[in-house]
Amino acid sequence: MAHVKTLAEFITERQHEFTYATGELSQLLTSFRLAGKMVNREVNKAGLAEDILGAQGSENIQGEQQQKLDVYANDLFIRLLRSQGMVCAVASEENDDIVHFDNGGKYVVTMDPLDGSSNIDVNVSIGTIFSIYRRVSTGDKATMEDFMQPGTAQVAAGYIIYGSSTMLVYTTGHGVNGFTLDPSIGTFCLSHPDMKTPADGKIFSVNEGNLYDFDPAVQRYIDDCKKQKMSARYIGSLVADFHRNLMKGGIYLYPATSKSPQGKLRLLYEANPLAYLVEQAGGAATNGTTRILDLMPTELHQRCPLYIGSKNMVEGAMKA
Ligand code: AHG
Ligand code: MN
Ligand code: MN
Repeated sequence: MAHVKTLAEFITERQHEFTYATGELSQLLTSFRLAGKMVNREVNKAGLAEDILGAQGSENIQGEQQQKLDVYANDLFIRLLRSQGMVCAVASEENDDIVHFDNGGKYVVTMDPLDGSSNIDVNVSIGTIFSIYRRVSTGDKATMEDFMQPGTAQVAAGYIIYGSSTMLVYTTGHGVNGFTLDPSIGTFCLSHPDMKTPADGKIFSVNEGNLYDFDPAVQRYIDDCKKQKMSARYIGSLVADFHRNLMKGGIYLYPATSKSPQGKLRLLYEANPLAYLVEQAGGAATNGTTRILDLMPTELHQRCPLYIGSKNMVEGAMKA
């Protein structure tokens, strides 16, 4: 049997690509590797466990109902990141403010611990999205300045998809690699080395229920996709829609609507990490006018319109 490369081996082997101290990246990614396996375990038995399905009975800062799994995943990622010591603060979708660890760690993390909450209870793919930055402030505690860095400053980003199989996909700026969890041994194994996204695709992914709320130019673009007989595919879990389009070629759009003039998706823990990944795979991501990675954040939970996927398709949507 050919040797199967595990995520841990791969990270060690590629350590030299990481600009900062040897070993730091591997420690940073270990939290996500472990937490991903633990969330995966809960997701897999969700239908059987009363304490996993359903609403928590609370709302997050964006006024969204928190699901039990949102809270479980958030607590777990924060606990592991705190105990591992490399990260001094986290900005999460599920926390109003920065969570400080007061441990002198040199990195900060932004994350969407559970993406696709509306799909948890109906057995449809969900995910986790994360992004890692080097801390830039020098005082005792991390500050907003550490989180208001443009996406170009990310040192690593990735996602975990809990789908028909569970995968962890990440980049440190040297291409994108994907690892599938082998549940029989509980290990992520390299299954998708050096992932590249096709420059063109045949899929468009958008919540068409909002169509008449979109700018006329966006409506025309969607019409064009149909005239070209492209396939409409929309799961409603960004990670899953993104992953499919990354593999097959396509465009995902979440434009501004009259209700949400800045769109729905969040810059720090949805758009930026996926934009970094898609560019590393040869694709593109914009907010309709500007490259996502060049946007200067001003708020932790800032939203932005998102056009992401195959390069020629994203460029086409910009010209519409
Ligand atoms: P989250 O579950 O983390 O709040 O994210 C939900 C997001 C994203 O996953 C998805 O693409 C989008 O919301 C779907 O929104 P609509 O239901 O408006 O299409
Ligand atoms: Mn999300
Ligand atoms: Mn979420």
